[in-house]
Amino acid sequence: MRITACRQAHFNCAHRLHNKQWSDEKNKDIYGLCNNPHYHGHNYKLIVKINGEIDPESGYVIDMKVLADIIKKEVEDRYDHKNLNLDCPEFADVVPTAENIAVMISNNLKPYLKKDQTMDIVLYETERNFVELNHITL
Ligand code: NI
Repeated sequence: MRITACRQAHFNCAHRLHNKQWSDEKNKDIYGLCNNPHYHGHNYKLIVKINGEIDPESGYVIDMKVLADIIKKEVEDRYDHKNLNLDCPEFADVVPTAENIAVMISNNLKPYLKKDQTMDIVLYETERNFVELNHITL
């Protein structure tokens, strides 16, 4: 029987949406307030969903303590209270939109998946704005 186990996490960080390939004018035009040179922050909410078979012995898809530790190590420790543009090398040349942050989180988490498991990621940048990455596999 396949089932989905979900874990929610939070992290706060600063970013600036700015594409170095574009002029300052174009950046301002496309990103508006999010292009503020002095950065701005968000309280991100992350939901990680692991879909897989229930282990007949443990009764788990994944041990929630294990999933919590993985999210802490690979997401919170990397991004919480950081400036994504300045502190995180993966965003040196990648614009830290919610979309790209979700992709980085997916890249960080997917090595932990078992072969038959799939993962979905939902990342809320604000209460109303969120992105989803679905059906991630190892
Ligand atoms: Ni923003």
